[in-house]
Formats: sequence, structure tokens, C-alpha cells
Amino acid sequence: MEKKNIDWENLGFGYYKTDKRYVSNFKDGKWDSGCITEDSMVTISECAGVIHYCQTCFEGMKAYTTQDGHVVVFRPDLNAQRMYDSAVRLEIPPFPVERFIDAVEQVVKANLEFVPPYGTGAALYLRPVMFATGPVMGVKPAQEYQFRIFASPVGPYFKKGGASSLVLKVSDFDRSAPHGTGHIKAGLNYAMSLHPIVKAHDEGFNENMYLDPQTRTKVEETGGANFFFVTADNTVVTPKSPSILPSITRRSLMSLAENLGYKVEEREVYLSELSEFVECGLCGTAAVISPVGKVNDHGKEILFKNSQNGMGPVSKKLYDTLTGIQFGRIEGPEGWVRQII
Ligand code: PLP
Ligand code: COI
Repeated sequence: MEKKNIDWENLGFGYYKTDKRYVSNFKDGKWDSGCITEDSMVTISECAGVIHYCQTCFEGMKAYTTQDGHVVVFRPDLNAQRMYDSAVRLEIPPFPVERFIDAVEQVVKANLEFVPPYGTGAALYLRPVMFATGPVMGVKPAQEYQFRIFASPVGPYFKKGGASSLVLKVSDFDRSAPHGTGHIKAGLNYAMSLHPIVKAHDEGFNENMYLDPQTRTKVEETGGANFFFVTADNTVVTPKSPSILPSITRRSLMSLAENLGYKVEEREVYLSELSEFVECGLCGTAAVISPVGKVNDHGKEILFKNSQNGMGPVSKKLYDTLTGIQFGRIEGPEGWVRQII
């Protein structure tokens, strides 16, 4: 199979239309059998629930070409389950976990020419999305939905160039609410974060650090990634909160850190204790591990001394282990890597 003529090494994180996607529609109380289609357009009612009441959720995952030439996806069962949970919370009829995994396989197989070659650092990003297509006028769930998975080859989420570590600001906005939808991948969470991210970029920051919406004293996450921190004695700490997205990358990293012999803690992390950490990183499918050098808390700078200029040693070890597993250089824990071809 011939690869597409794409400048793989210089891909950013964006939409690059590929040839095929998977679509299944929900109507008359059931999901249809679903199929691969070339149609990248969606035509829906002007009164569709997704347009007015944001009844939609999505996922993000990647397919990788491994060192020995296979194509794999990383822990798709966890994305399938998280999307199931998101759908339930949004009153969207959930898509069965086994069917989600099968659809992922179909989309990757149908777009093999777009899976970036090994060694380019790029991957094929998969974007499962579910949304209300049926008309609703009163505030209630729609009767019709679409489940779709499309693919796009991607490079790094954060642009290279300039300083190699990110600079964040503590946001005055919240991305979630107490007892809200922060823990699921609802489109509405991202709508909430658009104004704050535009503001942060205008002010010269790479991202926002959101605090817990109840007390605004504890660290939550950014608009698109979880946090981890490293203490001076190499303990890997990640915030625990009911309103952050349970990142699959973060859960994987914490388990790898433990296997590597680091002490790990998932606990509440106070803004006031940040200066005690020596490394900070963002983690997620798109972000992979992106080092954070500084956090600006209303003019007061908090510096992470070992992740000022790129990843510190603990972050680097975790990064090498995670990407080693994803690109087939290291054998991962049982069931983490699903081989497509
Ligand atoms: N937090 C938010 C708000 C996200 O959008 C994402 C991306 O999916 C993550 C964290 C990271 O999650 P994962 O590692 O499952 O991609
Ligand atoms: C992902 O990492 O897959 C996400 O969905 C994050 C998004 C902000 C791009």
C-alpha cells in the first residue's frame, strides 16, 4: 500500500481530510448497522439538538505505525467506555463499546495510506463524535443521532519553535462546574474554554491552568490535557478531582511511573503548593507529554526548575516509555496496544 504524499514531519495538529470515515445513525430507537463512507459532509435539521443545546460528545485517539511496520491503536477500549459514559450523561443513546472498537478498526484500515510512517513522529488522529441530529425545540433530548469516526494525520499539538516549555496562566474562568460535565468529553466544555484560550493566547500564554470551580484553590487541568507534577524526591503527583476528564494518557502514565519504581500520588493539588514541584507536564492524546516551564498566577510566576527548557528527567523517562509502547519499541502491559494490521 502506497502512502499519501504528505510532508509528515511538518504536520501540525489540524484537520486534514482523509478518504473514508465510519457513520452510524440512530433512528426509531436503534443504531443502524453503520458503514464506511466517503462523504465528509453532515446535513442536519436547522433545529437539530446539537446546534441549539450542544447535545454532543467526542473522543480523541491515535493510530501509530510501529517500528516493525504494524499499525496499532492505543487502549481503544478506554475511549469506547469514556464515550459511553459521556453519552449517558448527555442523554445520548450510547454506542456499544464493542461496536466502537470495531468502527475504529474499520476507519484505520480504510485510511492506511494516511497513517504516518514510523520515524516521522506523526500519527493518525481519530475523532469519534456523537451528536443530536433530530429536531428539538423544547429543552429535551433529540430522537435521532449520528455516531461518526473520522481520521486526520497529525503532528504535535503545541507548535515547535520559541521556548521549548509551555507558559500557562491561572485562568479566572472555569471550564467546568461543580457536579457538572467536566468529567466527560462534552462539546459544551470546550465551548466554555474558547473565550479563555483566545484571551490567554492574546496575552502571550500557551494555555490556561483551570482551578476547581468550587473553591478555586486546587489545580484541575487545561482545556485539553491533564497535569502531572514531579517533586524534588521524584514522586509523580497528579490532581484528583470529580470535574476533570479522566485522561487515558494520564492513567497510563501513572501506572507506567509506578512500574518504573516512582512513587505516585493521585490527590488534591493546591495552587499554593505548586512552587514545591520541580517538573510539570501536560498529558493527553494530542499533547502526549508537553513540558510546562512556568505558571503565571496573576503576575506571580511559579517556575518548575527541571522543566524550564524542555522535559525534566522524570517526564522524559515517562515520555520515552509511553511513546516506546505506542510506536512498538517497548512491550506494553497486556491489552494496551491493539494491532490493526
Ligand atoms: N483533558 C481534557 C479536557 C481533554 O480534552 C483531553 C483530551 O482528550 C485530556 C484531558 C486528555 O485525555 P486523553 O489522555 O484521554 O487524551
Ligand atoms: C485529545 O487529546 O485527543 C483531545 O481531544 C484534546 C483536544 C483539545 C484536541
